[in-house]
Amino acid sequence: MNISIFGLGYVGAVSLACLAREGHRVIGVDVDPAKLQLIADGKTPVVEEGMVELMAKVATSGRVSVTTDAEQAIRDSELSLICVGTPSAANGSQDQSAILRLAEQMGTALRALSRPHTFVFRSTLVPGTVEEVLRPILEKSSGKKEGRDFFVCFQPEFLREGSSIRDYDNPPFTIVGANAEEPVLQLKSLFGHLPCDFHVTSIRAAEMVKYCCNNFHALKITFANETARLCEALGVDPFQVMDLVCRDTQLNISKAYLKPGFAFGGSCLPKDLRATLYLAKQRDVELPMHAGILPSNRTHIDRAIAKVLETGKRRVGMIGLAFKTGTDDLRESPLVLLAEHLIGKGLSLLVYDPEVHLSNLLGANRKFIESHVPHIGGLIRRDLEPVIAESDVLVVGLNDKKTIELLKRHARKDQVVIDLVNIGAHGGLHAKYVGLCW
Ligand SMILES: NC(=O)c1ccc[n+]([C@@H]2O[C@H](COP(=O)([O-])OP(=O)(O)OC[C@H]3O[C@@H](n4cnc5c(N)ncnc54)[C@H](O)[C@@H]3O)[C@@H](O)[C@H]2O)c1
Repeated sequence: MNISIFGLGYVGAVSLACLAREGHRVIGVDVDPAKLQLIADGKTPVVEEGMVELMAKVATSGRVSVTTDAEQAIRDSELSLICVGTPSAANGSQDQSAILRLAEQMGTALRALSRPHTFVFRSTLVPGTVEEVLRPILEKSSGKKEGRDFFVCFQPEFLREGSSIRDYDNPPFTIVGANAEEPVLQLKSLFGHLPCDFHVTSIRAAEMVKYCCNNFHALKITFANETARLCEALGVDPFQVMDLVCRDTQLNISKAYLKPGFAFGGSCLPKDLRATLYLAKQRDVELPMHAGILPSNRTHIDRAIAKVLETGKRRVGMIGLAFKTGTDDLRESPLVLLAEHLIGKGLSLLVYDPEVHLSNLLGANRKFIESHVPHIGGLIRRDLEPVIAESDVLVVGLNDKKTIELLKRHARKDQVVIDLVNIGAHGGLHAKYVGLCW
């Protein structure tokens, strides 16, 4: 394929070298003539393992050329990879000035083109940029229509500086955000041979995945470093602790706890987080990330309260009260907090939880209701049907198959169902469906 690559930094230069290695004809475009000269001389513009040898090799293949002329590059290629920098502006926003200028130039080049061209954005871009900002610029400056005369798509780059050729050859996955089949097929022919899954998504989901991955990496590093600071203060070996944490591939290094849903609660996580923070305070160790977890969890509960109040309805049926599905443990249940808040707002409430009924509750849980939330105890019903019958809005806080089936059978058209736990496909539900944050 004839490919133009805009921006010859870490991402662009490595892509240029690897695509040329694979037999494609590649045109490198950059505003920095020094970088172009280095590439023309068979040298690497970035310090990366393996790049010196690879650049020298591909330069002799005759498949690599360079130019500062963006319009010429578009004319001579069928697909462009856009890899220009998107640094932080002083206020923390993304500085898109380079890519905005480039989009204008690319649109002008497109004007004179008699065949379709595909623009693959590989720079990290805040979600919505390709469709809401770049596509309109391309359409305006070319006078052409996306999806017919040209295509835009977003393919996040996952390479890491220092090991970028290896990462190029072994990515965790290939993700292509696209609205049409043509660019997907083109990118499959370029990257489909790589030893990983190939996922096609919406353009903005692909933009979001890139941010989510980087934020997750930053979160992981900070978690390990905060843990190490506390370990140091306690005289514990942080490497041993984190190594063992990572050896649990059931709950720790796994998909567990990484699905969007409702706030956490229960008899362990909140109290242990609080104890950790207290311990850190006693030892003068600052743990801002750990300290942010409970307030963030509270914000999630506030979101649920707001969703219920936004319906404007006054009779609420809560399905679920325990802190998670399949238990009768009410201690620090976020659903109890939600119920208390709604009662406090003057709404009338009924509660159903298949595991929680006062007459069945034993020991600690019965005592908990009697001493902490006696006002909720009286609102609990043994069956779901009367709760549905007497409510205008139903808040689903448990994901129990039998309960959800009953809900689907009995909920009415005039009711709203607010789903806090992602009950999944809700076909067959007559009520209006509202997800907590989906
Ligand atoms: N560096 C990484 O490891 C990495 C990994 C994944 C994604 N990304 C993302 O990829 C993008 C590029 O990152 P990078 O580290 O390669 O950046 P970089 O700063 O190393 O390179 C950007 C290049 O773009 C060139 N450029 C600027 N304006 C241009 C224009 N109008 N036309 C042509 N060239 C232009 C610059 O001269 C520079 O050579 C960023 O959005 C970044 O967030 C980077």
